[in-house]
Amino acid sequence: MQSLKITSAPQAGVPERILDTLNSSIICLDGRHQITYINAAGEALFESSATALIGRNFTSLLSALEPSSIVDKLHLDDVDFTEHEAIITLASGKAITANYSIYPFDSLSDGKADDSGILLEIRQLERQAQFAQDELKQHQQQATQQLARGLAHEINNPLGGIRGAAQLLQRALDRPEWTEYTEVIISEVDRLQSLTTNMLGPGHGMQKEPVNILEILEHIRKIILAAEPERIAIKRDYDPSIPELTADRDMLIQAFLNIVRNAVQAIDNEGEIIFRTRIEFRYTIGQITHPLVLRVDISDSGHGIPTALGETIFLPMITDKADGSGLGLPIAQEIISRHGGTIHFHSSSSGTTFSTLLPLDK
Ligand SMILES: Nc1ncnc2c1ncn2[C@@H]1O[C@H](COP(=O)(O)OP(=O)(O)OP(=O)(O)O)[C@@H](O)[C@H]1O
Ligand SMILES: [Mg+2]
Repeated sequence: MQSLKITSAPQAGVPERILDTLNSSIICLDGRHQITYINAAGEALFESSATALIGRNFTSLLSALEPSSIVDKLHLDDVDFTEHEAIITLASGKAITANYSIYPFDSLSDGKADDSGILLEIRQLERQAQFAQDELKQHQQQATQQLARGLAHEINNPLGGIRGAAQLLQRALDRPEWTEYTEVIISEVDRLQSLTTNMLGPGHGMQKEPVNILEILEHIRKIILAAEPERIAIKRDYDPSIPELTADRDMLIQAFLNIVRNAVQAIDNEGEIIFRTRIEFRYTIGQITHPLVLRVDISDSGHGIPTALGETIFLPMITDKADGSGLGLPIAQEIISRHGGTIHFHSSSSGTTFSTLLPLDK
C-alpha cells in the first residue's frame, strides 16, 4: 500500500466499476482528510452521491457529538490499522457497527508531500448479518414451499370428488333439514379448495408488466378503507420519484394486501397504519447486489409480533389468530421472492414495520 498513488481510483489503475461492485465502502482521503474518491457502497452508507461527497472533509460525515475512534486513527500517519466491531456514528445520528481498515499511502513516483493520503475500507456488519439471514430464509422458504405444495396437491385432489358427491346427495335428499348438512360439506370443501389453491399458487406463470407502486398501494388503501372507513387511518409517505417496476400487478396486490390485513388486525380503534416508499441504493438481496431497490414499509401501531414467533411467521400455518390460516405471510414472501425481492420486519410492543424490498433493475 505504501507505494500506491490514489487521488482517484481510476487513476490508480482500478476500474471504478470494479470498486463499485464491492460491498465494502472504499474511501480515499488526501493528506488533509478530504475525500478524493468514494465507491458506490460508500455513497449508500453516507446516503449521498460521490459528486456531493468528493472534496468534503471525511470527519464532517461523522457525528461530532459521539466521536468515533476512526477519527483518531486517521492521524496514525504510516501504519496500516484495522479495528473490528467499531461503532461509528454518522452525522445523521445513525450508528453502525463495522470493521474498518486504514491504509496510509504516499507516492513514490514524484515524492511530493501532498501526494500522501489514506485509503479507508469500511465493512458494515449489520449488512453482512442481513445477507446471511436472507440466504437462510431463502433456503428455509424453498423447503417449506415444497412441503406446502405437496400437501396442498394431495388435499386438493379428492376435494372435487367430495364436492360432486355432496351435490348429487343434495339432489337426492327430500328433507330440507338434511340438505343443510350437504350445504355445510359443500361450503367447507369450497373453503378448503381456495386454501389449497393459495398454497399451490402462485406457482403458475407470472404476468409481468410495468407497474406503478403508488397506484398499487392506493388500490390497497381503497380496499381496506372501503371495509372499515371509521376505524382505520392510513397515512402515506411516498417518494414520488420512484420509477415503475416490472412485476405481476395482481400478485403484488395480493402480497401487500396480506401484509396490510395483518396490520389492520393488529391495531385497535385508535391505531394507525403508514404506507412508506423509498429507494435504496446498492442493496444486496440474497446473493445479488442491486444498484436500485424499492423499499415499501407498512407500519402499524399495533400490539407487535409475539417474540416467541420470530421469523417463524413466514412459515405456513403459523398463526395466533382463532380464524387465521397462517398463510398470509408465506404467500406474500413467496410472491416477493419470485420478483427477486425479500421481506423483513421490526416489531415491538408499540408496533410493527414490514419492509418489502424489490429490485428495480431493468
Ligand atoms: N402487523 C402485525 N402485527 C402483529 N402480529 C403480526 C403482524 N403481522 C403478522 N403477525 C403475526 O404473524 C402471524 C402470521 O401471519 P400470517 O398473515 O401469515 O397469518 P394469519 O394472519 O395468522 O392468518 P391469515 O393471513 O392466513 O388469515 C399472525 O398470526 C400474527 O401472529
Ligand atoms: Mg394474515
